[in-house]
This record gives sequence, structure tokens and C-alpha cells, in this order.
Amino acid sequence: MRILVTGGAGFIGSHVVEQCLAAGYEVAVMDDLSTGRRENLPEGVPFYRADVADAAAVQRVFEVVGPEHVIHQAAQVSVSRSVREPGFDARSNVLGLLHVLEAAAQHEVRSFVFPSSGGVLYGDVWEPVSEEQPAAPVSPYGISKLAGEHYLRFFAREYGLRCTALRYGNVYGPRQDPHGEAGVVAIFLQRLLAGKPPVINGDGKNVRDYVYVADVARANLLALGSNLDGFRAYNVGTGLGTDVNDLESKLRHALEEVLREQGRKTALPAVVYGPPRPGDLRASLLDIGKIQRELGWQPQVTLQEGLKRTAAWFAGKAPGI
Ligand SMILES: NC(=O)c1ccc[n+]([C@@H]2O[C@H](COP(=O)([O-])OP(=O)(O)OC[C@H]3O[C@@H](n4cnc5c(N)ncnc54)[C@H](O)[C@@H]3O)[C@@H](O)[C@H]2O)c1
Repeated sequence: MRILVTGGAGFIGSHVVEQCLAAGYEVAVMDDLSTGRRENLPEGVPFYRADVADAAAVQRVFEVVGPEHVIHQAAQVSVSRSVREPGFDARSNVLGLLHVLEAAAQHEVRSFVFPSSGGVLYGDVWEPVSEEQPAAPVSPYGISKLAGEHYLRFFAREYGLRCTALRYGNVYGPRQDPHGEAGVVAIFLQRLLAGKPPVINGDGKNVRDYVYVADVARANLLALGSNLDGFRAYNVGTGLGTDVNDLESKLRHALEEVLREQGRKTALPAVVYGPPRPGDLRASLLDIGKIQRELGWQPQVTLQEGLKRTAAWFAGKAPGI
């Protein structure tokens, strides 16, 4: 199989690339490196630096690569930037998506996988919700993800492109950017390793469905290999809720264990509390019954194990502490 991964130099995309290679697939990456990094990619992967909002550049990459399948991870991923600059968000997340979909249809690509988002589509939910939950996005980022799903439905109907939207929970793992606004695990780890206290915004009782990046990448590969026609949307999470207080304490334990194993100092700064962030959801949980039934996917990495793997990766990046 020949696969084009857009956004493949990013956090989730680079894990998708790794798993595609491990499965013996041919992979090429298109990325503008706006948040992604070349060093996230294994040596030798064909790389095309291109902006998905540039239709001609997208066409050129499709002509050279001739992909049979597309995993479209490229997106502007900041919710707050989407609020400040909805046009900038739509440029990558609506127009860019359309360019890649159009090229996929023209080049007779067989399947197309698109990351959507459970959190931004469903809003505040205290029980795991299925894909039937009505979408009610409040940010331009959420609106563009919902629009993306509608475009996929259109391309599936009009061109017979097999399309899957994966509605991720809160993805965490190695290579997540600790400078972003999301990615609490990466942000806390970076601060702890720099000897700075992690800051919990609000009371720490916000609940999320944390899912390990390798499990998310595997869901992408299963969606790509599925022979189910038309458009499908699946939640990709664990169905388990963890609040930020609990997450912080599990993460601290995981990091202490890693540092002890490496014979390093384990005295980590205590957590501090700051004001709540306006607009943060209180709770977001995903029911994963549909993807279990239809694609045979389920998460394999527990939160404890995933946090330990992530802590080990970040600790390896900060060896001096
Ligand atoms: N991380 C999460 O918890 C989460 C949750 C829901 C959905 N998602 C979605 O998953 C996908 C991957 O996100 P991530 O967390 O790996 O973020 P990321 O920022 O690490 O990855 C995005 C990648 O896309 C590239 N990119 C951005 N704009 C581009 C453009 N115009 N042209 C070409 N490349 C471009 C970036 O350089 C980067 O490599 C995104 O579509 C995001 O919306 C992520």
C-alpha cells in the first residue's frame, strides 16, 4: 500500500508514519513544518514541504507520490488561535482539507482518514457519549472539524472515496509539543523536568478521556485497511475519565519511577493552582463501542503505562536534571 500522510511530521502523524513503516507500507509525508519537525520522522521517509492551503503544491505532491491511501493529519490545531483568527483556521482546516480531498478524488485514492475531535464536537459530557450525540461545536476549530466531516460525507457519496473520521479524545504521548495550549501531559512533564511546578488551571476536577498516541495511530491504520464503504465516524478514546488532579499525581509517580530507574534525583516541585481557563470544558468522555465492533480496535496501553512511556521519553530529552 502507498500512503500519503499529511501532517506526518507532527505529534500524531509521526506515530502514524512509524506504524505504516512497521506494517511494511510505502509512506510519504507532506507537511509545512508550521508545528511539525523533520526530526520526528524516521530517516529516509520521502518528505515534501508543502502547505495544504496551496492547491497547486498539493497537486504536485499527489502527482509525484501517487498515493492509494491518504491519512490527513495536517491541521492548525490551536482552539484559541481559531477563536482569534477564524480565517486562519479555515485556511488550513477547511480549504486545505478540500484541496487534499479534491486531489484524492482526482487521483482515485481508495481511502481517506481524517482526524476529528470528540471534545470539540460534543461539548461538556459527563458520561461516555456515542457518535449519535448531536454535534454542537463552539469554536471555529470545532466548526471546521464538523465541516470537514460533512465534506468527507460528500466526497464519499459523490466520488466513492472511502472516508473515515476519527473523533479523538485527549491524545498524549512522546513527541507531543509542550509549548502548545493543549497537551497537558507534555506541558506538566516539561515543567517538572525543568524544576518548575506544574500549574493546574482551576480546581483540577475537569475530566478528560486520555488516549495513548500509539493506540490512536493504530486506529488510523485500521480505518485505512477497512473495506467498509461510504463515510464513517468513530470515537477514539478509552471511555474512562480522569480528572487533572488525578492525572498530575499519576504522572508525577510515573516520572519519579523513571528517574529512580535512571539513578537520577526524584525531588519534583509541588503542583500549584491557577485561575480556571475561560471556555475549558468540565468533562469530555467517549463511548468506543462502535469502533470496537466495526474495526476491532481497542486501546491497548493503560494510562499508567502510557504515562510512564511518555515520562521516559521526556526524561530522555532532559538528561541534565
Ligand atoms: N492532539 C490531540 O489531542 C488531538 C485531538 C483531536 C484531534 N486532533 C487532530 O489530530 C491531528 C494531528 O494533531 P497533532 O496533535 O499531532 O498536532 P501537530 O501540530 O503536532 O500536527 C499537525 C501537523 O500538521 C502540520 N500542518 C499544520 N498546518 C499545515 C498546513 N497548512 N499544511 C501542511 N501541514 C500543516 C504541522 O506542521 C504538524 O506537523 C490534527 O488534525 C488535530 O486537529 C488532535
